[in-house]
Parts: sequence; C-alpha cells; structure tokens
Amino acid sequence: MTTLNPLIARSSANSGNLSSRFRADFPILAQKTPDDRPLIYLDHAATSQKPQQVIDAMQRYYSCDNANVHRGAHQLSARATESFESARTTAAGFVGAHSPREIVFTRNASEAINLVARSWGDSTLHEGDEVLLTVMEHHSNLVPWQLLAQRTGCVLRHVGITDDGRLDLEDFQEKLSERTRLVSLVHISNTLGCCNPLESVIPAAHAVGALVLVDACQSLAHQSIDVVALEADFLVGSSHKLCGPTGMGFLWARETLLEAMPPFLGGGEMIQDVFLDHSTWAVLPHKFEAGTPAIGEAVGMGAALHYLQEIGLDAIQAWEAQLTQHLFARLQAIDGLRILGPTPEQQPGRGALATFLVEGVHANDIAALIDASGICIRSGHHCCQPLHRLYGVSASARASLSFTSTMEEIDAFAEELSSTVSFLREHS
Ligand code: ALA
Repeated sequence: MTTLNPLIARSSANSGNLSSRFRADFPILAQKTPDDRPLIYLDHAATSQKPQQVIDAMQRYYSCDNANVHRGAHQLSARATESFESARTTAAGFVGAHSPREIVFTRNASEAINLVARSWGDSTLHEGDEVLLTVMEHHSNLVPWQLLAQRTGCVLRHVGITDDGRLDLEDFQEKLSERTRLVSLVHISNTLGCCNPLESVIPAAHAVGALVLVDACQSLAHQSIDVVALEADFLVGSSHKLCGPTGMGFLWARETLLEAMPPFLGGGEMIQDVFLDHSTWAVLPHKFEAGTPAIGEAVGMGAALHYLQEIGLDAIQAWEAQLTQHLFARLQAIDGLRILGPTPEQQPGRGALATFLVEGVHANDIAALIDASGICIRSGHHCCQPLHRLYGVSASARASLSFTSTMEEIDAFAEELSSTVSFLREHS
C-alpha cells in the first residue's frame, strides 16, 4: 500500500515563507495566553517545538510496536528493533555518514561529548597533550574536558573571539600546535550565533595531527551538514533541538575511531560474551549503548529528522536568513540595545537568533515582563558562563527563531521589547 506524504506535496516549491506552509503542523504554536493573546515562542535554541508527525510517530510506536529491542524472537520485538534501527539509518543519512554503524545513540549531546572524553580521551591522551576549545563553548563542551584534564594531565587551551563576536582565527592558528590532539568546537554558537568556519578549522587541525569534534546542536536543524564533506572526526547532535523528543541525542564518529575506542558504559546490550571475570564487546555501534535504550525517543527523533529533510534544510536556511535579518533590523532600532555576535551583513550564514544586552536594564527583568505579554524568550547565561564573563555580564536576553517563526511575531516582539525597556528604565 502506498500512502501519499502530504509533506512532499507541500514542499515541492522549495523556498519562500515556510512558516505559512508548516506552522500548522505544530499544535503548541496555535495556543493563546490566558488573556487571549497569541503565544509567541522565540526560544527555539533552548528547545524546538514538535510537529504532529513526531507526536504521532511516538504514539504509534507505543500503541502498536512497543517491546525491547535486539532481544526477543517475537514479532513486537522485531518491529520495535526495526523502528529503532531505522531511526539510526535516518540519522546517518541526515549527517551524511557512511554507515549507520557510525551513529551511537546517547541521552543527549552532553553525554555524547562525555563518551568521547571518557573513551577516546582516557585511552589516548597523556600529560602535556593539548585539547583546544573556544571561549564561546556551551558548558557541555567545557566541563567534560576539564574532568579529562584532571584525570590525564592534558592541557586545555581556549581560542578567543574577535570584537564582532566571531572565532578569532589568528588566535586559533597561534594556539594550534603539534601538541594539540583534539580541537572541540561549536558549529553555531547558542549565544553569539556566529557560524564557525569548519572548512578552515578542520584542515588546519588535521595538518598538525589533531582530531576535530563538532558540536552541531545549534546548526543541525538550520542548515545541511555533511560529515564526510567536512572531514570531521566526531559530531554531536541533540534530538530536542531538532523537532524531536528530549532524552535523545547522538554521536557520529568515523568508524575506524569508534572501532579503536573502548566502551564508555558497561551493561546489557553492549556485550558479545560475558564471563565472570571478563567480557567481550558487541559490534558497532552497540558497543557504546549499554542497557535498554530510549526506543520511543529514537523513533521520535527519526520522525523529526525525516520531517526536516522533507521540508529541506536549504529552504529552512534561506527562510530563517530572511527572518534573522528582520529580527536584527528591528532590534538594532532600539536605543541602548547591543546584540552580541556578528550581524547578518558581517556573516550571512550566522545562526537564527539574537542575544542582546540593554543598557541599564537586566536581561531577566526583560524576559519576565515580556513573558507577561505572551512572548517566550530566554535570559541568563545560556550555559555559557565564561563567554558572559568576557562581556562583563552575568546574563543576556536571547530571541531564537525557527522556520515556523513569522515576520509578524518578530514585529510584535520588537514592539513589546521597546515598551518594556522604556517601562523598566522609567521605574529603575
Ligand atoms: N543549550 C540550550 C540553550 O542554548 C539549553 O538554551
């Protein structure tokens, strides 16, 4: 039986205003506040909303196919295994991996980075070896390496940023050396929104014999990524930032690296044979997946990736670039407001978000007052405390977009922000 996928029909003209075509897929975005205003969600970088297709896929899995995977001989287990492994194949295709064996399912991107630090790091690095990070990293790409440095004596170095909030490539070249064993960096910063030039960073790192880990949490839902073309070594992603459920993420790594790496966690699923005093390991990627995995969540993530692919990442990137330009134009018109990171003119491929500081007004007050008008933005350090310290602040406010965002939402936000800032200035 063939079913006509309505998404394919709707996405045939692969550009333009995606919100008008796909927003209706997201039930949560149709809701109103208790005082009957439309709810405006501008916190997509913290977590994405979920389309009905993902909600349905998870409900279908639990209603029809739920069983444990890779274990039972019965039909439900076979169907659950098929759904689970098909999500892995989808994830592999989504990042352009050579094989699903290169996709390890984890709870989130943090766990994926911890896996690399514990498995590759503990078995490879020695005292004096260097891991090169950047000052714009999320805590998830700082703390695991700090713990690794404590265990192994490796040295952490951090690339700085330019005045316009981009990766300082001169500083990168200065800090990169024959001692560097790994460069681990974010693709699109969740705070600065800058898109780091992986096409320059990766070959330079390889030239000194270092591997590269890419934190793609803020880029995978916004642009097409091909790990083979990038020649990356490790890449991590998070389902909940990709229109999928929480509790699910993945590590992609080159198969030869994964083959050489020891297991991270021990338990069921990851073994081939267990004796009382030793064990042997399952084939890839199961060697790294101890215990019953998050099966329903994997199915949900697979549906989410399929959904984004059907819309088209190039179309998403083009529409979000228009939205971002409008967001910047509206925010730049507000007196005393400073946006961190490059403007769309300085970096056309920058992320679809704007993080800002307003002179004389605390970011948390802005977010709280704006919320009372039905507009959800994030304030705080966005899990980037060292970066905020560089700017001399403890918190900033951030509006982050998705392809479901509209120009009208941005206008409503800018107008509300303008009056909120005036109000707070008058009453401070
Ligand atoms: N890392 C997420 C954010 O940027 C939580 O908001």
